[in-house]
Amino acid sequence: MNAIELARAIPKAELHIHIEGSLEPELIFQLAQRNGVALSYPSVEALRAAYAFTDLQSFLDIYYAGASVLLQPQDFHDMAWAYFLRAKADNVIHTELFFDPQTHTARGVPMASVIDGLSGACQKAEAELGISSALILCFLRHLSEEDAFATLQAALPYREHFIGVGLDSSELGHPPEKFERVFARCRELGLKVVAHAGEEGPPEYMWQAIDLLKVQRIDHGVAALQDPLLMAELAHTRLPLTVCPLSNLKLCVVNDLRDHGLKTMLDAGLCVTINSDDPAYFGGYMNANFEQTVAALQLSREDVVQLAKNSFEASFISDQRRAACMAQLRAVAST
Ligand code: ADE
Ligand code: ZN
Repeated sequence: MNAIELARAIPKAELHIHIEGSLEPELIFQLAQRNGVALSYPSVEALRAAYAFTDLQSFLDIYYAGASVLLQPQDFHDMAWAYFLRAKADNVIHTELFFDPQTHTARGVPMASVIDGLSGACQKAEAELGISSALILCFLRHLSEEDAFATLQAALPYREHFIGVGLDSSELGHPPEKFERVFARCRELGLKVVAHAGEEGPPEYMWQAIDLLKVQRIDHGVAALQDPLLMAELAHTRLPLTVCPLSNLKLCVVNDLRDHGLKTMLDAGLCVTINSDDPAYFGGYMNANFEQTVAALQLSREDVVQLAKNSFEASFISDQRRAACMAQLRAVAST
C-alpha cells in the first residue's frame, strides 16, 4: 500500500467537523421542501455554484443561510446520519461533532430539538456503524459573552449529551479573551474546552486560547507557523491542533495545498490532526482531505500513521477506547 492507499484505509478520528457544515445542497433542498422554508437559490446547482469563497466570512454567510432549513429533531438527526455514513466510508471510527445551537435557537428552534436529534443519530451510529462519537457545543464568537452564558444555561438540562464547548464563527475582531468568564464557568462544570484560533487570526489569539481559556485543543492553529515561541510551546506540551487542509484552501488561508504548513508542524513534533471542518462546503470529507494533503505535501506512510495516532491521542475518549483504536490502527498500519 502506498501512502495514499494507507491514508484511505487507516482507522482515524475526526475532531473538527461542524455538523451543520456537512449539510449537502441536496439535503438542504429536501429539508427546505419538507419544512416549507424558502431558499434564495433556485436549484441545487445554483447553490453549489455559490460555493466560491474569498475568506471565512464569505463562507459563514452561506453556511448560516443553509442551516435555516433545520427545524425539527428529525432534520438534525438526518443531517448527522448522512455524515456518519460518509465517516464510515472513510474509516473514521471515532468523531467529535461541533454544533452551533445559537444558529438554531435564534430562529425559535428549541435547544431540545437540536440536541435530541443529534444525540439520537450518535447513538444509532454507535449501534449500527460501530462509530463512537460525542457532541461539542460551540459558542458563536461574533455574538456577546452574555449570549454564550444564556446558551450554556439553556443547554445544561441536556448536560449528559455533550462533552465540551468550543468557540467558532468570525475570528478577526473577536479574540478569545472576550469569552474568558464563560469558559471558566464551563471548566468548573467539568466540560472539555476547545476553541478555534489562528485560522485567520494571529498567533496572539492562540496564546489567549491557551492562557486565558485554558483550552485542551486548538481548532486550526495554522498561525502558529508565524511564531517560533508558540511552535516550541506546542511541541513541548503536545496541545493538539485540529488542522483542516481543504478548508484552509477553500477559505484562502493558503493559496495552494503545496504551501500548507501541516508537514512542517508534524516534523516539528506538534500533535497535528487532519479534519474536514465543513465537508459539504469545502469539497471533501476525511479521506479527500488526507488524499489531497498526502499528494500535495508528499507525506510518507510514517507521516500518515503519525497523523492517525495523533487523532486518537487528541480525542476525548477513555483510555480503554483509545487503546482499542490504537490497536485497530496498528493492525492496518502493519499491512
Ligand atoms: N464555523 C463553521 N466552520 C467554521 C470555520 N472554519 N471557522 C470558524 N467558524 C466556523
Ligand atoms: Zn471549524
